[in-house]
Amino acid sequence: MNTDNALRVIFRSHGSPSVLEHLSSPANPLGPGEVRIRNHAIGVNFIDTYFRSGLYPPPALPSGLGTEGAGTVIECAEDVTHFRIGDRVAYVQSSLGAYATQHCVDQGRLVHLPDDISFTAAAGGLLKGLTTICLFNRVSQPKNGDTVLFHAAAGGVGLLACQYAKRKGIRLIGVVSTKAKAELARSAGAWATILAGEDIADQTRQLTAGKGAKFVYDSVGRSTWQASLNSTASCGHLISFGNSSGPVENVALAQLARAGSLTVSRPILFDYISEPAVLQSYAEEFFQCLREGLKVQVGETLPLLEAERAHELLESRNTTGSIVLIP
Ligand SMILES: NC(=O)c1ccc[n+]([C@@H]2O[C@H](COP(=O)([O-])OP(=O)(O)OC[C@H]3O[C@@H](n4cnc5c(N)ncnc54)[C@H](OP(=O)(O)O)[C@@H]3O)[C@@H](O)[C@H]2O)c1
Repeated sequence: MNTDNALRVIFRSHGSPSVLEHLSSPANPLGPGEVRIRNHAIGVNFIDTYFRSGLYPPPALPSGLGTEGAGTVIECAEDVTHFRIGDRVAYVQSSLGAYATQHCVDQGRLVHLPDDISFTAAAGGLLKGLTTICLFNRVSQPKNGDTVLFHAAAGGVGLLACQYAKRKGIRLIGVVSTKAKAELARSAGAWATILAGEDIADQTRQLTAGKGAKFVYDSVGRSTWQASLNSTASCGHLISFGNSSGPVENVALAQLARAGSLTVSRPILFDYISEPAVLQSYAEEFFQCLREGLKVQVGETLPLLEAERAHELLESRNTTGSIVLIP
């Protein structure tokens, strides 16, 4: 039985980053199938801002925050079979509460962390890396030589997507808000970049001999939906996978027909990795990519107590790559 106090970030009501508070309290008891992890690094993801703001409702308030981290196992429920005290582990899509010194995670959301992968790389890259692998292999299957458009290409998911696409011979056109971000995306492997303030569809068509991109990956949502529709090639596939600028609403099917018989997906990573065996195999692919040179570019490393600042930076578009909190 773990008797340490845990320090955690919580919120009691929805709102701006200032609703985040720190709380020191006795550790939660372990539930069946759960493993207690002492976090060494915690991943910050845009989805955390959706729970905080109320765009995605948490199960209850007050609520913990965060679903990704890496650390060491310090306690296991009696029925846990695959993990032991002392194991190095990483997790994604746990119950809310990863922004804490320790977190109880269902064993089905955990993977063993190989010794050659750092806690920071795992916490900064696992969720974003699995998203990238899933987008390019399960949700859609762009091939060597295909041209794709990818929004927020210098962000956490974005810089991994630039590298992954380059490895597969996919020509990724990255949309970014500044010249510095454009340079970063290109150095990570983007074939070309477009500045978000430009006419994205017009630029995409110029880069694709008028055809448009066969696949468009849009995590920005509301503000880029129309540009994404206009950038997708006839019979192409538009993948809307985030809401950084707000959710896309009121889409009429006729819009997809008019834009050139488009296919649209709205994937959520969890649905693709809900089976622990699938999570395991994607994580192994991600770790192998890291060994072969893929880099988790951590743009900001902040103390856990600065979670509020991490959210401010993320939402003001002032970050590149991943943000990691250190307890
Ligand atoms: N569906 C899924 O399962 C899944 C899984 C993982 C992530 N996601 C989504 O993927 C996206 C990227 O996640 P991330 O954690 O790696 O974040 P991120 O890309 O590091 O940060 C978001 C980036 O979006 C861009 N952006 C454009 N308009 C924005 C606005 N109005 N407000 C804030 N940012 C804006 C900014 O890049 P510029 O400055 O270059 O415009 C910003 O840096 C998020 O939308 C997230 O929800 C979805």
